[in-house]
Amino acid sequence: MSLLSAVPLSAAAWRMEPDRPMRQPPDRPRGLAPRADDFLFAPGVVYLQTGSLGPTPRPVMDRVIAAWRELEQNPVYYAYGPHEQAMEETRAKVAAFVGCGRDELLVTRSTTEGMNWVAQGLGLKAGDRVLTTDQEHPGGCVCWDYVARKHGVALDVVPIRPGEHDARAIVDRFASAITPRTRVMSFSHLLTSTGLRMPVALLCALARERGCLSVVDGAQAVGAIAVDVKALGCDVYVASGHKWLLAPAGTGLLYLSGAIGNAVDPIPLQAGRAVYSASSGVTNIPGVLAMATAVDYLNAIGIGAIERYNLALRQRVFTALQGVPRLRIVSSPDGPAASPMLSYVLPDAVKSEDLYERLSRRHHVVVKVVPSQWFNGHRISTHLFNTPEDVDALVNALRAELT
Ligand SMILES: Cc1ncc(COP(=O)(O)O)c(C=O)c1O
Repeated sequence: MSLLSAVPLSAAAWRMEPDRPMRQPPDRPRGLAPRADDFLFAPGVVYLQTGSLGPTPRPVMDRVIAAWRELEQNPVYYAYGPHEQAMEETRAKVAAFVGCGRDELLVTRSTTEGMNWVAQGLGLKAGDRVLTTDQEHPGGCVCWDYVARKHGVALDVVPIRPGEHDARAIVDRFASAITPRTRVMSFSHLLTSTGLRMPVALLCALARERGCLSVVDGAQAVGAIAVDVKALGCDVYVASGHKWLLAPAGTGLLYLSGAIGNAVDPIPLQAGRAVYSASSGVTNIPGVLAMATAVDYLNAIGIGAIERYNLALRQRVFTALQGVPRLRIVSSPDGPAASPMLSYVLPDAVKSEDLYERLSRRHHVVVKVVPSQWFNGHRISTHLFNTPEDVDALVNALRAELT
């Protein structure tokens, strides 16, 4: 597998064209947000890119600033006193949010960091095999490329064609790719390319049955849909705070099931699992404290309500885009494989980067360019702060640009 090239966000794309009136900031709450001023988007921006980086609602940002101010009053007192204790409370709160106990949960800086800790901490040797898919984000597969290069671990890759939604076929393909030397099955909960909701519980059961460790990259799932790591039956679950959880940038989580003991034993965990430890060092304290505020924010609305809302909006996108010429949806129709992300393919004549730029500059609609290794297209993320008007703005913008 190779590193997927990141698509740079062109600065020009952010310059709003003066001849187009920008929509006013909302005078009523956006979507499920409790207050009208909870989100600080520039006026008129239609943000459909939570899958890359989520916004932080005002209470979360306020908590960062307040914690930082406290820290400045007496850094060493707060960092190794009240803030250290509060970071452990964050850990407990995030753990409860994904359905495990505090001792099974680690606070990290990102999904990538969590995956790296896991891959390095497993002590894989030459001849061991890791089974993954061809739809993994670099944050979920660079770590396996590393152990392959450094330690002679072999990688086996299950292909998942964009447009495929057949859970049984995917599980069967995994089953036939497992060998006696397969130590790990590593796959995403929601695919970054198409949003496909993977049959995680079935894949984890398969891993258990065949004696492999299941490692789930949940970067796109936590905060977008309800996640219960125990119900999924995974050994390891890794996610970001700064996407759907709406926590500050530079936050993440790593669940290590108690049942696997010390099977994952990387350097940062040598002095224990506390957020601050002698082996992990000082972290982004205000960000970690505000991660708890983000969990409170989502809990106040309820993750069940959030998932239903996100899926309903995504379904609105699905239906509306069927009437737009020159694009083809490759995400699942409504059903068990659907998630709050949806992708479409464009014809070769329409470059996804160019259309991205036009959507952003002319219409203030922000989408994701799918890396070209997969297809020439875009991905749309619908989260609790998005509205039916956002969907209409996207559809109108696409119609204007494609017809
Ligand atoms: C499936 C998946 N894994 C990992 C990442 C990387 O996340 P982070 O920046 O938190 O490391 C992403 C980001 O888009 C992703 O979609």
